[in-house]
Amino acid sequence: MLDLCLVNCKLNTDSKEVCLGIEDGKILSIKKLPSKADVTLDLQGKIVLPGLIDVHVHFRDPGLTHKEDFRTGSSAAAAGGFTTVLDMPNTIPPTDTPLTFREKIKIGQKKSLVDFGLHVGVGDLSHIEELARLKPASFKIFMDLLDHTTLTDAFSKINEVNSDCIITLHAEDGQLVRQFTEIMKKEGSDPELYAKARPAQAEIKAVEDGISLAKKYKQKIHFCHVSTKESLKQIKHAQNRGIDVTSEITPHHLFLDSIYLKKFGNHAKTNPPLRDRMNHLNLNYLPEIDIIGTDHAPHTLEEKEENIWNAPPGVPGLETILSLLLTKVNQKKIGLNDIKRLLCENPSKIFSIPHKGFISEGMDADMVVVDLKKECVIDPDTFKSKAKYSPFKGLNVRGMPVMTMVRGKIVMDQGNIFKNKGQFVY
Ligand code: DOR
Ligand code: ZN
Ligand code: ZN
Repeated sequence: MLDLCLVNCKLNTDSKEVCLGIEDGKILSIKKLPSKADVTLDLQGKIVLPGLIDVHVHFRDPGLTHKEDFRTGSSAAAAGGFTTVLDMPNTIPPTDTPLTFREKIKIGQKKSLVDFGLHVGVGDLSHIEELARLKPASFKIFMDLLDHTTLTDAFSKINEVNSDCIITLHAEDGQLVRQFTEIMKKEGSDPELYAKARPAQAEIKAVEDGISLAKKYKQKIHFCHVSTKESLKQIKHAQNRGIDVTSEITPHHLFLDSIYLKKFGNHAKTNPPLRDRMNHLNLNYLPEIDIIGTDHAPHTLEEKEENIWNAPPGVPGLETILSLLLTKVNQKKIGLNDIKRLLCENPSKIFSIPHKGFISEGMDADMVVVDLKKECVIDPDTFKSKAKYSPFKGLNVRGMPVMTMVRGKIVMDQGNIFKNKGQFVY
């Protein structure tokens, strides 16, 4: 007897309904006919996707929990259809020592509703060997904060201790950013100046540097939030030359350009900034991109009210991306397979997350049920995240997540959140 049987599930728009048998948190069977189970749930022909995986979130726990914590962040994840998240290390203290890493695992195990992994930061290089043994999702480097020597030393050390580790890069050249910021600050405080203070060329330069280091050390790298056409071209070119490099785009860099800085001010302020129409990427580039990561980077509304130079960069993204993409599915601009590739399969493969990202026998029963016809207007006041703002505010969307399940347990049903004990995925 199974624990749960989901009947009348559609795994794709044009496929026949199937029944998913779930036992001990795993998908045990995918069959035409229902199997006997303690609980049977009729999904009435709704689409079931693998639970989404966000490889790039900032849950701010510990140290910045007035912005977000593991409970509210993972509730936002569940609300948005995510069942696994990889958290970034720029907390207080930063997650860059074995001690802070172990502490953050404990926080996640106590507070997270969804499964999670942790990226580690690069601080004192002497910690790298032990950190690599603790199975971080990656070593995360903010290139805008490191000089070239330190960056090279970090690549060398990480590659030496474990050449299978992945290095994820925030690619902006620090020197160019500082130089242009100084110039633009003199121009006033018009929000659009922020985009010019961190110009496309700062990202392109950092992408080139990252690629040459990856080549030199035969090191696997992943570029976070790629925001310009030229960076993506460089990455594609490197991939074609056999360099082990992958790309990620955020929902805001995919759907918005720098005009939105004028419209939404600091609510659209992020690093890297939104790009002008010439440089920015859009849906046409999706086939060349490996992952959509939300870069869920919550701040308080109060902090966002500062002027453009002082307000912190970052927008919350977990609760909007699936609806934004399903709207495009309804408009026939993309397919459900694109969502699966960018938010389930590639995240699982690139970050080596076991048993996740696919609906097939033996995988974790992580799923999101979507209603392709359900419509709403994006309203940040309804977010589970503590960050109640969004550059997508007021947008009409068609297609929404209506149920999220982590290892066979319902964590979200029609927007309501239910308790669960998230696990460390590695
Ligand atoms: O916009 C951003 N916000 N970019 C980053 O690289 C950091 C992030 C944050 O932590 O707020
Ligand atoms: Zn970043
Ligand atoms: Zn980030």
